[in-house]
Formats: sequence, C-alpha cells, structure tokens
Amino acid sequence: MKRIKVISPATSANLGPGYDIFGLALSEPYDIITLSKSEEGISISLRGEGADRIPEDVDRNTAGVVAREIIKDFDIEGGVKIEIEKGIRPGSGLGSSAASSAGVAFAMNELFNLNLSKLELVKYASLGESISAGFPHADNVAPAIYGGFTMVINYNPLEVLHIPVDFKVLVALPDVEVSTKRAREILPDSIPLRSMVNNVGKACGMVYSLFKKDLELFGRCMMGDQVVEPCRSQLIPRYLEVKERVRDLVYGITISGSGPAVIILPRGDKVSQVEEIIDEIWGCPLYNTRVGLGIQVLERD
Ligand code: HSE
Repeated sequence: MKRIKVISPATSANLGPGYDIFGLALSEPYDIITLSKSEEGISISLRGEGADRIPEDVDRNTAGVVAREIIKDFDIEGGVKIEIEKGIRPGSGLGSSAASSAGVAFAMNELFNLNLSKLELVKYASLGESISAGFPHADNVAPAIYGGFTMVINYNPLEVLHIPVDFKVLVALPDVEVSTKRAREILPDSIPLRSMVNNVGKACGMVYSLFKKDLELFGRCMMGDQVVEPCRSQLIPRYLEVKERVRDLVYGITISGSGPAVIILPRGDKVSQVEEIIDEIWGCPLYNTRVGLGIQVLERD
C-alpha cells in the first residue's frame, strides 16, 4: 500500500459525570486524512475549518508527533506525507486535535502494516493530545478509534472499555472561544466527598442505561454532574438559558468536552423544536448526527 485515506470523526468527551473518562464517537463532523509514503521525513498540509490556526511544524502538530513517534519506534524507513482536511473546528470541544492524532495513528498502522491493537493506537494518539491540551487525556482519541461509547478506566497503564451504542445526537457549536487549558484551570483541585458520591452514582447509571437501552436514564444521569459542568457553564454565554428552554424536549444536555460545543440528546419527535431554540438563542452551527463507528477507511491504493 502506498496511500490511505480515512475519515476521523468528532468525539464528545466527559458526557457530564465522566470527566476525562467517558467519550462518544459522532458520525459528524469529521476530518479527512490522507497518508502517503514518501522518500523521507514527515510533511503536513492542512486545509478546511480553522486550518490556518494549526501549526504545520511536525513537532508542534498533534498528528505530526504521532507519526514521528511511530516512525521512531518501528524503525520505519522512508517518510510520510500527511494531508488533513479539517471538518472539525479546532478548539470546539469536539475532539478536533484528537481526530487528527487518532486518524494518523490508525492510518500509519494500516499503511505500514504494524498490527497495532486499538489500545496501542489510543496510546500513540494520546501523545498528540499532550501537545494540544498539555495532558495526554485519551477520552477523545479512544472513541475516535473504537467508535461508540468508551471509558478510559485507567491512565497508567492505559485501560479502555468499549460499548457499541447507537442513538441520535444534536451538537450545537456556539461562536465563542474556550481554551481547554482555561477550562481545566477553572476546575477545583479537590471536591467534597458528597460530590464524588453523586458523580460516581450518576456515571454508574449512565453505563447501566446503555445495557438497558434506556436513554431517559442516560440523559438524566448525564445532567447530574455536580463538579465540572457547573464550573464550565460560565464560559459559554447563555448556556444555562438554552438548557432551561430545552429541558422538556431532551433526554439530556451537557457541555461537550471542554466546550464550547454542547451535546444534546433530543427526544424522538422534538428535534426541530430544539433546533429552533438553538437557532433563536445562538444562531450557530448545529449538527444533527448520531453516535458513530469511529475511524473508517475511505480509500487505499
Ligand atoms: N476531558 C477533557 C476536558 C476533554 O474536559 O478537559 C478536552 O476536550
């Protein structure tokens, strides 16, 4: 194989009580990533949503770092040309950098026939996340690679659990900048024991609900976070107003990752009413999507 082209999807991390643990792969939006073997070195070119804000320098680019580490660890001779068409806005809370890191880890594995497991791909992809977030959190790269719903239950060593699921998701992307660094800094260093008990209980409810296919329970528990979402809601203007207005139309609503994207689980026949409210309050892009399957190969030759 000389070339591979993949779709690498947006992901929604945290989902309320699952801070740095839960993640959900989405069908849309996504990046399209093409890797071609080259004589030597790593080159990166970017276009699409917010591409002008992403460095093309290998050591400062999340995808570049992943390719560099894989080439080093596997003594790969020759180089690779990476072309990324961004469909996921950087800094959106939709795992934009994770999509690039995970897509490149996946594509390198295929292109050079490395036989890496999904867990090993998550490890490589998380290296890229260190560059963008300052911490190798895996809660976006895991669902990008596994698809469905994932739980990063341990970081060292890395352990990921996966549950395939499928349901409808709306994602609103308000026009406001929220840096992940700032969104992490405003969180408390320690929390009361009762908040921990609450959040663990709600997280358990969410996992149980997936086996029972009970979206009502999933959404109610997703909205029960008493630690992260209450702090971060101040970073997204009118978020609390949107939450209040859509309350009876959705199973659940919360901040996606570190924001500003907001993930909404609409009740079956209420999608257009939710869309109207989002349009009225934020007038922002809104993805009417589903849980996705993770990275998919588009072409190989
Ligand atoms: N779990 C991370 C956070 C995701 O919430 O900071 C960053 O998108």
